[in-house]
Amino acid sequence: MAAEDNEVVLRVERLKAFYTSSRGLVRAVNNITFEIRRGESVGLFGESGAGKTTVALAILGLFESLSRRYASIAANEDSKRLWELRDNARKRGLTSDQIGQELPGIEGHIWFGGRDLLTLNEKDYRQIRGNEITYVPQGSTKSLNPYSNIAEQTAESLWAHDIDNTLNERVVMKRVLQALDLIELGDVDLRKTMKPSQFSVGEDQRVLIAMALIPDPVLMIADEPTTAVDMAIQQRILEAIQIVRREMHLSMLIISNNQGTISQTCDKVGVMTAGHIMEFGPAATVMNSPGHPFTRAFIMSNPTMQVIRKIKEKKLRIRGIPGKPPDLAETIAGCPFKERCEYAQDICRELKPEYREVEAGHWIMCHRYEELPAW
Ligand SMILES: Nc1ncnc2c1ncn2[C@@H]1O[C@H](COP(=O)(O)OP(=O)(O)OP(=O)(O)O)[C@@H](O)[C@H]1O
Ligand code: SF4
Ligand SMILES: [Mg+2]
Repeated sequence: MAAEDNEVVLRVERLKAFYTSSRGLVRAVNNITFEIRRGESVGLFGESGAGKTTVALAILGLFESLSRRYASIAANEDSKRLWELRDNARKRGLTSDQIGQELPGIEGHIWFGGRDLLTLNEKDYRQIRGNEITYVPQGSTKSLNPYSNIAEQTAESLWAHDIDNTLNERVVMKRVLQALDLIELGDVDLRKTMKPSQFSVGEDQRVLIAMALIPDPVLMIADEPTTAVDMAIQQRILEAIQIVRREMHLSMLIISNNQGTISQTCDKVGVMTAGHIMEFGPAATVMNSPGHPFTRAFIMSNPTMQVIRKIKEKKLRIRGIPGKPPDLAETIAGCPFKERCEYAQDICRELKPEYREVEAGHWIMCHRYEELPAW
């Protein structure tokens, strides 16, 4: 393996991303760290509201402007005051920890290409977003323009970043056709002139993946690439992602609450609930032999055939996740899973667990890991 194959392309370090709401701060992402190496596909897997999309927005430099906009639409006085405190702290070069008060916005580091993305201005970010880092947003097939054909729309993602005017029509069309061919759209010469309504939902989703590929990004983020489609279509989308992994040496962040999607497309996975990564490790290990009580419960709450077989074989008890996820507008003391965990004890309520590396590259945040029954 060449040295650069192992290079870390993205490192998210102690990232916090807090929204404001009428009920105060919403701690959507709370101190998470992970990295993605060149050519590696990393998943964020977890329940709804865990903070997965917020991580993507933070990497894309969209979190803060979006959450300020929500705050200003809500016209809430407390939110306004918190954002003012945030801006004053920034002017003085201080973090929320240093001023001893939790604040909205983003903190931590997102290292990419030798730079901390959180220090970039919007002009520099525009060179990265949609170019070096591309995004297939959640529920995004609606974002396709119904009046423009697929080739034109796919080409737009290249033209938009051609600030030096180095591209020409022939080069752009060649790359468009290559990308559409890669995601197996059939006769691309024929289909490139078709409009989104002439494609199925699954094909539209694959076109969006093609669009995210043609700038030849370093990192592609796909947020829930397989939601709201049936199993057969899901499989075609997953195959398209697998082809992309094989053919292009790009790094990927795949966000999903679907075990099959993560198992089939990721090398490593971080399992999220309540703004925290509870377990991080090789996807095959985490999905087949989960170590953390949350991962186990989440996988059990919607078991695949493989998990059902395992449950029967090992005579495990099927148990979903009781209760509701914690309210992110409240400070969480102790373990974020303590209210719903069947193994919780006093220590879990009092102290937030530290991460422990239980085997090489496999991290778990649980006080009682050693005492848990085998899976
Ligand atoms: N604009 C906002 N203002 C306040 N809170 C928000 C806002 N957007 C999201 N949140 C909250 O932040 C938390 C994380 O949301 P996020 O969308 O990142 O979760 P997710 O893991 O992507 O969930 P899903 O699987 O449903 O897409 C949730 O509790 C959500 O309610
Ligand atoms: S720390 Fe305690 S509450 Fe949290 S997952 Fe482990 S056993 Fe459960
Ligand atoms: Mg989401």
